[in-house]
Parts: sequence; structure tokens; C-alpha cells
Amino acid sequence: MKERLEALRVEALQELQQVDNPQQLNDLRVKYLGKKGALTEILRGMGGLSAEERPVIGQVGNEVRAAIEGVIDEKQNAFLAAETENRLRAETIDVTLPGKALPTGAVHPLNKVAQEIEDVFVGLGYSIAEGPEVETDYFNFEALNLPKNHPARDMQDSFYITEDILMRTHTSPVQVRTMQQMNGKPIKVICPGKVYRRDDDDATHSFMFNQIEGLVVGPNIRMSDLKGTLLQFVQQMFGEQAQIRLRPSFFPFTEPSAEVDVTCVQCGGHGCRMCKQTGWLEILGCGMVHPRVLEMGGYDPKEVSGFAFGMGVERIALLKYGIDDIRHFYTNDQRFLSQFARM
Ligand code: PHE
Repeated sequence: MKERLEALRVEALQELQQVDNPQQLNDLRVKYLGKKGALTEILRGMGGLSAEERPVIGQVGNEVRAAIEGVIDEKQNAFLAAETENRLRAETIDVTLPGKALPTGAVHPLNKVAQEIEDVFVGLGYSIAEGPEVETDYFNFEALNLPKNHPARDMQDSFYITEDILMRTHTSPVQVRTMQQMNGKPIKVICPGKVYRRDDDDATHSFMFNQIEGLVVGPNIRMSDLKGTLLQFVQQMFGEQAQIRLRPSFFPFTEPSAEVDVTCVQCGGHGCRMCKQTGWLEILGCGMVHPRVLEMGGYDPKEVSGFAFGMGVERIALLKYGIDDIRHFYTNDQRFLSQFARM
């Protein structure tokens, strides 16, 4: 029996040396030490031993069990250590690695420029007014001193929805809406928004574009106030060196009317291709609010006067950033748009 036990020890330890995973280890534990295992099997024969032999064999049996258990524990610990190390390695985070940049959106250049323009005027004490893009003929034309069949209506080819409803061709109808709302009180507003014209799209035209209208009404508002305001605006927008010049023009809703030029942003006024050698770039239309428009807005032209101006946001953005084609604003080319994210 002693020989069988010794042989079992040798066999078990040999087999245990080959083990290379926890499952195998467990199988061997069952095979040698389990209730129906080889060691138990041999020791079951102890009943037939003499009283002297029994403790000797019992001792050997215990030694063999201890030897096998020892190796199993050793192996077990080794597997556990290896597993822990693997897990730690897998879970290790190198906090010194650079982070992954998440793609983020950015404000569209047109909205950016519109916000800048709004900021300048809000800084000058203006409020922001808004009006509908689908407008009635009355607000878009009639109340702006453009009666039906007036030839000046052809200045702005319109998208009509019905005979009396159209997509607004400019932000000027918000002038009239604001006057009606303000009910005779002084006014100082800008009105940003989309406008629509039946133009063929090209580098400088679009059927839809953005305007910002300005309207100031109150006692003793003079053309010099308009000029000072616009000079302040262009200097904040294009820099201290920027100057303006007013050229006589015509709009049915202002009298007198003027077209405003700003010092060429490219050459500073010396003359270049951008300004066609004139040193000036046209940026907006303006004038003193026509007495008839004041009247239709519920204001008495003998008591108050006012000025108004209207500019294209696209045009300002083209000049400010030196962009040569208005269509860039609408075609959503990421290579174009992403340049403004960092500005
Ligand atoms: N509404 C005019 C346009 O769209 C611009 C303008 C606004 C001119 C206000 C004078 C006063 O061309």
C-alpha cells in the first residue's frame, strides 16, 4: 500500500507539472484528491491493515495528500497572479496620452457676421426687431411708399404666393411693423432676417440672402446722425482706419437716399482690382425716412424724423473675409466652413 501511495505521489506530481490552465488543475484535484479520487480509493483499503501498519500508512497518506495539495496551491496561486496581472495590464490607462478630439460644430460664418453686426448696434443702444418672411404686399411695398404699378417695384423681382402675399424682398417691411407697434414712441431698432428675390444665383446673387435693417425715429433725427452711426459701425466692423462716403441714390421709402461706400478693405483706398481702382466698396443703402412712410406708420412727420438703412450680411461677410463667391455660404463645404470655427 505504501508503494501504491508513493507511485501515486510521483504520478500526480508529474501530471501536475504539465498543467497550464486552471481547468486542468481542477480536474487533477478531483482526479487525485476528490471523494472518488485515486488517493481516497487507496486509503479505503486501510480497514484491512493491522493496528501497527495503520498509523504508518495513515502518515504516508497524509504526506502524499499534503505534497499534492501543496503543488496544487502553488499552481493555483501562480494562475491567480497571472490573471490579475493580465487584467491590470488590460485596464491600465495612460493618462499622459493626448485626448481624442471630438468633432464639434461651429457658428456659420453668416450667423457670425450677423451677430457681430448686431453686437455693434446693440452696443449703440439699439433693440432687435423681427418680422415674418412671408409678407403681405402692403408691408413689403405699399406702406413703404411703393403703390401698385409703381415702376420702382421692378427693382426687386419678387416671389409671389398669392396676389397680395409674397416672400419679403427686403427687411424694410419690419420698419412699418415696428412703427405700428411702437405707436408714436421713439424707435431705435435693427431687424435682421432672410429676404428673397427672383434672381438667378451667381457669384454675387442668391434667391435668398440675409439683410439687417436699421430704423431710428424720434424728434430731430438728422442725416448727420445717420452718417455718424454708419461711420461708427464700419469702424467697429472693418477697423479704425475705415472711412465712409455717401453717394446720392433713390429708394421710394427714404428721401433723401444714399448709397454708402466703405474704404476698400483690400487696398485701404489706394485702388485695386477688388474696388475696381476706385478705393471704395459699396456696402449698404440708406436715407431719411420718407414723410409718407412715417405717416403710414402712425408718426407725424412734422413732429419726428428718422433714418433707415439696409445692408446685406453676405456682402459684409464677403468683404470682411475676402470671399469671392456668395455660393460658398450655402453649399456646406466643410473645408470652407471649418476655417471659421477657429476665428
Ligand atoms: N430695402 C433696401 C434694399 O433692400 C435697403 C434700404 C433700407 C434702403 C433702408 C434705404 C433704407 O435694397
